[in-house]
Amino acid sequence: MEIQNEILSYDEQIIFKLRMLYNEFGYSQYKMSRFEEYELYAENKAFLPSGEILAFTGVDGRLMALRPDVTLSIVKYAKDDDALNKLYYNENVYRSDGTEFKEQMQVGLECIGNVDVDVMGEVLLLAKRSLDTLSERSSLDISHMGYLNGLLQREKMTLQQRNEIIGCISEKNTSELKIICAKYGFNDAFTYKLTTLTMLYGHYDTVREKMQSLCVNEEMNEALKDLDSLSDVMCKHGLDKCINIDFSIVNDISYYNGLIFQGYIEGVPARVLSGGRYDELMRKLGKTSGAIGFAVYLDKLENADSAQADKADGMLNIALPKGRLGEKAYAILESAGYGCPGIREESRKLVFENAELGIRYFWVKPSDVASYVERGAADIGVVGKDILLEHSPEVYELLDLGIGKCNVSVAAEKGFKPDNAPKILRVATKFPNIARTHYQKQGREIDIIKLNGSIELAPLLSLSDVIVDIVETGQTLIENDLHPVELIVEISARLISNKSSYKFNQEKIDRLCESIT
Ligand code: PRP
Repeated sequence: MEIQNEILSYDEQIIFKLRMLYNEFGYSQYKMSRFEEYELYAENKAFLPSGEILAFTGVDGRLMALRPDVTLSIVKYAKDDDALNKLYYNENVYRSDGTEFKEQMQVGLECIGNVDVDVMGEVLLLAKRSLDTLSERSSLDISHMGYLNGLLQREKMTLQQRNEIIGCISEKNTSELKIICAKYGFNDAFTYKLTTLTMLYGHYDTVREKMQSLCVNEEMNEALKDLDSLSDVMCKHGLDKCINIDFSIVNDISYYNGLIFQGYIEGVPARVLSGGRYDELMRKLGKTSGAIGFAVYLDKLENADSAQADKADGMLNIALPKGRLGEKAYAILESAGYGCPGIREESRKLVFENAELGIRYFWVKPSDVASYVERGAADIGVVGKDILLEHSPEVYELLDLGIGKCNVSVAAEKGFKPDNAPKILRVATKFPNIARTHYQKQGREIDIIKLNGSIELAPLLSLSDVIVDIVETGQTLIENDLHPVELIVEISARLISNKSSYKFNQEKIDRLCESIT
């Protein structure tokens, strides 16, 4: 059927095409209410992308919620038998972005019942076709929870240690991974396997041998067998050369098992598709059959057309922090062969390019680098670890540049004794999240006073009991009669990359990283 482009909006055209596609493969539409019992989400908060739920009391007194997720409701009402239920949906979800709730359109599908390798192959095929509907340039990557879980089982670790390791894997942060492994006394062979797995990327046939060599137990061997049979089905569908293995894709092991996957399209900075096998969620809701599905995030496609046009110039955009740190970072890049004419000259210009090398530099406020990269305005950037810890942007942390070294510390006036401090400690800081996490670990109640600069003044004027701030040379503390009380974390400058940009410029970005290490 011909789509009436002039009548349908861009979103509506996409929805229409996806519905036609899923319909063609025998999926039937699932309609649902936008209200659901709050309890369903409260009991499965870890399954949701954000913990916040928009709740209200129904007319009968029951606590209800505006649906933050579609899959949970489908699973709750799904028949639990051997037959295969193939469903698609086109629904709004209501999620918080940290500041406010937003209504987001999702189109997706779920297969519930006897999920075998052919079903998984079909779902991957539909994921790829969905991405093709959105853009000519897309990337679909897969991972396997059993494989990663198998490797993590190898060493005894606490849940917190496990989460720290998984966090580093998801950021492709091998330098932090090595530090954590050393801190917890994990052996070199385990550390090597973890870092190798983190950076493994490519078509299955090119990485399989390496994956085999990393296997340490039955769970990993089983996962490999699973992927072998999936690879045969992918070949049958002609997908083997368009899907990559990427173990930095991780999901909650208590809900997902086996295959998980994510899709990106060029020019859109965040992932536009996410899915996986979630038998564990089925078990949590008392069901015995298997399940797999994915969702396409239509809200991420706003301005996709213009973003794709911007990317068409093929330049690699690099955000550098204005000031001393940026100058040091540029010196490293310049000596690695990534120089740019005019950039060192005194001027107020903020953008410099070297068309021959295909690079463009932006000078941005240091605390804004992570936002430029996360939002895709820059492909890569240099930023202090303090900013990454404070804002947790969704980026890859590819390198520790070893410059801009300093500490985030607690400092106070001389004579301050933590044991004699008031029950609710008043903490002045530019880093409320770092401070909150630090004191939460100690079980200490605090009152955060968010300041933007000259933090050292706060205890002098009795605005706070302590400060949480950067200490580099220690001079500012000395000159203001303060002294460090506790070291929270050592920091340095990191090279970060937008996740989507990395998918489409991996060779360029890897080459740049290699030439500066
Ligand atoms: C930072 C930090 C400290 C100072 C520490 O301030 O907040 O005040 O540097 O450096 P030092 O240990 O070498 O003395 P910044 O220069 O960014 O200015 P600000 O106070 O306006 O944040």
